[in-house]
Amino acid sequence: MPAVVVVGTQWGDEGKGKIVDLMTPFADVVVRYGGGANAGHTLVVDGHRVVFHLIPSGALHKQTRCVLGHGMVLDPEVLVAELEEMEARQLLAEGRVLISDRAHVVLPHHRLVDRLRDQGSKAIGTTHRGIGPCYEDKAARLGIRVFDLLHRERLRERLQANLERWRPVIAHFGEACPELDAMAERYLALGQKLSPWIGDTGHWLRRALDQGQRVLFEGAQGAMLDVDLGTYPYVTSSCVVASGASAGAGVSPLGIQRVVGVTKAYTTRVGGGPFPTELDDAMGEKLRSAGKEFGATTGRPRRCGWLDLVALRFAVQVNGVSELVMTKLDVLSGLGDLRLCVAYEYEGQRYEEVPPPEGWGEVKPIYEDFEGWSEPLEGCSDFAAFPAAARRYLARIEEVVGCPIRVVSVGADRRATLGLRDPFDGLPKLDVKPKAFSFKS
Ligand code: IMP
Repeated sequence: MPAVVVVGTQWGDEGKGKIVDLMTPFADVVVRYGGGANAGHTLVVDGHRVVFHLIPSGALHKQTRCVLGHGMVLDPEVLVAELEEMEARQLLAEGRVLISDRAHVVLPHHRLVDRLRDQGSKAIGTTHRGIGPCYEDKAARLGIRVFDLLHRERLRERLQANLERWRPVIAHFGEACPELDAMAERYLALGQKLSPWIGDTGHWLRRALDQGQRVLFEGAQGAMLDVDLGTYPYVTSSCVVASGASAGAGVSPLGIQRVVGVTKAYTTRVGGGPFPTELDDAMGEKLRSAGKEFGATTGRPRRCGWLDLVALRFAVQVNGVSELVMTKLDVLSGLGDLRLCVAYEYEGQRYEEVPPPEGWGEVKPIYEDFEGWSEPLEGCSDFAAFPAAARRYLARIEEVVGCPIRVVSVGADRRATLGLRDPFDGLPKLDVKPKAFSFKS
């Protein structure tokens, strides 16, 4: 039962979509386990650009099943549109997509509240996709789950209780709360459209793993946006890290045998919050334009900065990453000399680990300087063909982070990826079924 998780190790947008798309031919199933339409990955089908927010990046490979686990928050409007897009491209066959009946549903007022609340100087800069309010309802035990969309009376009852909670919040902003009857009808209709794909995905996945199917878990966002481990409160509302795959998909943590971490060759972040290595200067601008750093979900310009090895090492440790994939190394060609943040300074002390929580906004990066390179990397066929300066840059990252970089992406094209191999290669067949236990033994 080999299972591999691919996670982001920064603040999201590391290029996980491309990597999962490349690894999918080795997998039988690709699973998303957390987050919602705040994520976005761009796929290119026959030269046509498609952006998916909910359907896993494996969607393009017809032989692979796509599972949306119960840890996700699903906006049915977005999901129906994505299924229609798949159908139009002949990517949708019976049983190809499985949607958890237990996943929580993002409702119109979740999106409304997200937008109304996230304003002003303290704004988190959310994607306004209703993610935070939906997870709030989940924790408050007031949420609507996917299977509720299939039962009229149940849905109306739960929607009514849910709207009661949000009405005063919406009124506080002088806006009108959506009306129960119209919403119930709309969401019942969406539930009908989704019904062929809805089921107990946890049960299905456990069985698939028992049968020895190869399961690839696709993380969304990045470790530094994790609700517990990231730069709180400037984080998303879900468990982003690899352990979330177990809880968010309903499989044993013992079944996860390998965690692959994806990092960009530099750092980006969208939205507010601490970003110790941010560059507010011409170099930041150069990174943004060379790396085309604009959000796939919101189109916002991303904040850009040097690679932060303190954050990366932390992400490697908390995820159990055993190998790194580096994306966009080609973007650094011709940018001049480079820097790597190897530690922070906070209150006169050097920190090689993440600072105390109140220190995140205050830390100053301690840099090592590196000679850059001017040669383009797109044509390189292996790491040995990289300029010596690029090899030194990669070697120092591996040394500081304590993790090998096995794959390097040097362009958007699928072929511009060096070192890619079967992510399941060499994984032992594990038996994680509980053993019979007897007091006599
Ligand atoms: P939310 O997830 O929409 O609530 O946004 C919370 C924070 O996470 C904001 O800073 C967003 O910009 C960030 N965020 C959420 N999803 C992504 C993503 O897929 N990539 C990058 N940043 C994200």
